[in-house]
Amino acid sequence: MDSQIVELALSDWHGATPNQDWIAALEAGKVLYFPKLAFALQPQEKRLLTPAVLAPDVRNISLDAEGRLKGVAGDAGLQRDVAAMVGRFRAQAQALIGGLLPHYTPALRLAPTSYRPVQVETRTQSWRADDKRMHIDSFPSRPNYGERILRVFTNVNPEGVARAWRVGEPFESVAARFLPRAKPYVRWQARVLRALRVTKSLRSEYDHLMLQLHDAMKSDADYQKNGPQQAVQFPPGSVWICFSDQTPHAVMSGQYMLEQTLHLPAARQYNPDSSPLAILSRLTGRTLV
Ligand code: SIN
Ligand code: FE
Repeated sequence: MDSQIVELALSDWHGATPNQDWIAALEAGKVLYFPKLAFALQPQEKRLLTPAVLAPDVRNISLDAEGRLKGVAGDAGLQRDVAAMVGRFRAQAQALIGGLLPHYTPALRLAPTSYRPVQVETRTQSWRADDKRMHIDSFPSRPNYGERILRVFTNVNPEGVARAWRVGEPFESVAARFLPRAKPYVRWQARVLRALRVTKSLRSEYDHLMLQLHDAMKSDADYQKNGPQQAVQFPPGSVWICFSDQTPHAVMSGQYMLEQTLHLPAARQYNPDSSPLAILSRLTGRTLV
């Protein structure tokens, strides 16, 4: 497998300019990796680097698009400091995407920003929720009809610990491999899921197939072990970006990461034909949304 990582020397969040090669790589499902782009913490923010800031039974802290902070245990001062740190990362991530991908800007929809202080290796989860297994992002309860999931990540670990990922093969190969095993879409079942409020809106055939791919990848032990993949270490002080609905990824270890999600209609990409929606439509010969 060719490397799926494209390394870029940028060191200024506000200094990015559009580059056709990087854009094509990102839209082809590669990871753009910025080893010199650090998210700088303020001195008073160092105390936020502990899982003790998490509310009970919570894994992530999130700042939603309306500015509401969730998941923090602590007094008003702590809440304010966490909100400021996460909010500053949001602004820098937006500036980075705005510089790199200006054509997206008017079409982007802001999703929550998250701060993840939990050590990855200690999490125990069901196979379906286990992000240590290679997968593409697809959410059972929130159909998205092909809208893209663009994510900006930064590692803020204070002890030099990298975030270790595995990155897999191009989406088209994933789809060709697993689509033959996908259960057919059944519209009345999608209606039942909606009526039971298992899904927030009707699950489209696209959303069904994406979930089938997600589950088929995660449940295939041989694919997890022997499928095409590369190990990547993202050290503290680095940033990486990918379309996580397209790039197969797994997180193996690490602690303290900030992440920004942005949604984009597939039609607003530089090349809409490279989207999972276009690829799955071509491979199935059907309109999926
Ligand atoms: C994921 O999106 O699967 C998790 C990424 C991470 O926690 O590093
Ligand atoms: Fe994921």
